[in-house]
Formats: sequence, C-alpha cells, structure tokens
Amino acid sequence: MATIVEPASDFSALPEVPQGVFTAPLQRPAHVGEDWLEPKQRDYSSDDDAIWNDLFARQMDILPGRACGAFMAGLQKLHLNRGGVPDFRKLSEELGALTGWSVVPVPMLIPDHVFFWHLANRRFPAGNFIRSRETFDYIQEPDVFHDVFGHVPMLTDPVFADYMHEYGKAGWKAMRYNRLKALGALYWYTVEFGLIREGDDLKIYGAGILSGPREAVFALEGRSPNRIMLNVDRVMRTDYVIDDLQPTYFVIESFEELYHDTVERDFDRLYRSLGPGFTYANSAVIDVDDVLHRGTQEYHLRGGRGSNAEPV
Ligand SMILES: [Fe+2]
Repeated sequence: MATIVEPASDFSALPEVPQGVFTAPLQRPAHVGEDWLEPKQRDYSSDDDAIWNDLFARQMDILPGRACGAFMAGLQKLHLNRGGVPDFRKLSEELGALTGWSVVPVPMLIPDHVFFWHLANRRFPAGNFIRSRETFDYIQEPDVFHDVFGHVPMLTDPVFADYMHEYGKAGWKAMRYNRLKALGALYWYTVEFGLIREGDDLKIYGAGILSGPREAVFALEGRSPNRIMLNVDRVMRTDYVIDDLQPTYFVIESFEELYHDTVERDFDRLYRSLGPGFTYANSAVIDVDDVLHRGTQEYHLRGGRGSNAEPV
C-alpha cells in the first residue's frame, strides 16, 4: 500500500541527508552530539519556575472551552499543573505508560532530519530553556513552555500519538523527493495550528495556538482568518507565516480521520506532483475548499504584528 512512509527505512539510525536537500543551517552547540540531545535537563531557578506558573495560569484562563478534549485530558493525565517546569524524566515515565512516548531535552531548534529521527522513535524533543519576563508574550524560538505545555498533552491521545510517529517516519521519503517544505506545511497546519470539530463547535489542538496568549481567541472567534476543512494535498501546497497569527486555519473532523487521510495517502504521487515552492498564498481561498468561515483578513490587511491592528 502506498503511504507517507518509505517502506524500507531503518528508523533506529539517524538518517543521512541526501545531497542537495535543503535543511536550515543550524550551528550545533559543542556540548551536544549528532543526536542534539542535552546530557541532562537543565536545573531551573525559582524565577524560571515562576515564569512557567504564570504562563500556565494565563493559558488556563483562556483554554477551557476552547482547547480540545484530548488536550485538556492530557494536562490532567500528566499532572502538568503541579507547578514549576516539569521534570522530563517523570513526564516521560507517565507519558510512556500511556502511549510509549518520551520527552527529551534539546538546546534549541534542531535540524529537520534529527527531529524526524526522534519522532520516528517516539521521542519528543523539547527546548531546554524557558523564556524571560522580557519575552513573556512572544518568542520565536520554541521554549520549554511551548514544547511541553503545547505539544506533550496531545501525545497522551493514542491516535494523535501515532500520527506524530508516522509523521516522523515520513521524513525519509520527503528527503528523498526533496519536499521537506511541503511536509513542514502539513506539520504547521495540523500539529502547530490545527483546529478540530467537536460536536457543533471548533476546538484547538495545535500547540502554536495552545501555548500563546492571543491566538486561541483569534483562531476560533476572530472574523479575520479563514477556517477551512483540512485537505492534505492542499495544505502541503500552502505557504504559512512563522511570526504572526495565521491568516488561515484548517479544521479536521477527528484524529482518526487525520491519521487515515495522511498516513494512507500515496505520498510518492503527491511529492511528484508538487513544485519546490508553495502554490497558494497563506490567505488564499480556492475552488476546492470546504470553507467554514471566509475571513475578512482585516488584521493582516491593517499591518498584523508590529502595527496597532487589533487581532479581530
Ligand atoms: Fe511547536
């Protein structure tokens, strides 16, 4: 059966990046090896723990009723409200018992092929550092709050956990076709910024939304952004913004549907049909879209981040 994954890959070994495949040129710090893993999680100060607690409290004012059921249940199952930055070892024990995943510390953003390799082995690499009070509202580099609070609760959901595993294994095939950018868009519009239908409501499962202060309300209730049912081929052709609220969110019916729609798709055929760049602008609405809400885009048209535009 054609799938997202290369059939004969050895996921136990770090993949070689084929010649000519572009990945971000990241400078590996001297104290980490090829796996980019920190020897141990850092010791956090009481100020660091207070920053975690304040970030946690701020999100808990916003997320109940907006975050999906799997996320809220995951917070409980992992006791993420116990206060202070979670200890990865304890977290991994609890998560491992639920879905076989672990959380491992990395110093910063890591190269794509290393990231895929960890996911393919059910290890979630989480930033080791926490933001400062000065960057409390917004940081571009994912820190431990984004990675652990935003991503890890979702890994307690068995189907979502398997989706992430298959996504990691998909890296090998994407590299062979030199289509990491397209596979990256899929991650962006699902794992980072995805919405899910629950009954008559939309809820959030994307970590980029769950870990930030403004986007939860904007994504669900704003009139600016488009909300469109997810179509895997379409999102893999769609550009995205990394430093502002999204002009478009894609909605899934269920994690089962996301899993099957993605994993059982013929990615060889898909990659062959994709160009090296994106076809659709991040605010585009196209003929094939099943549109739930056509956004006004007024937030972005007024200047977006850095302007005085209200995120409406
Ligand atoms: Fe993330």
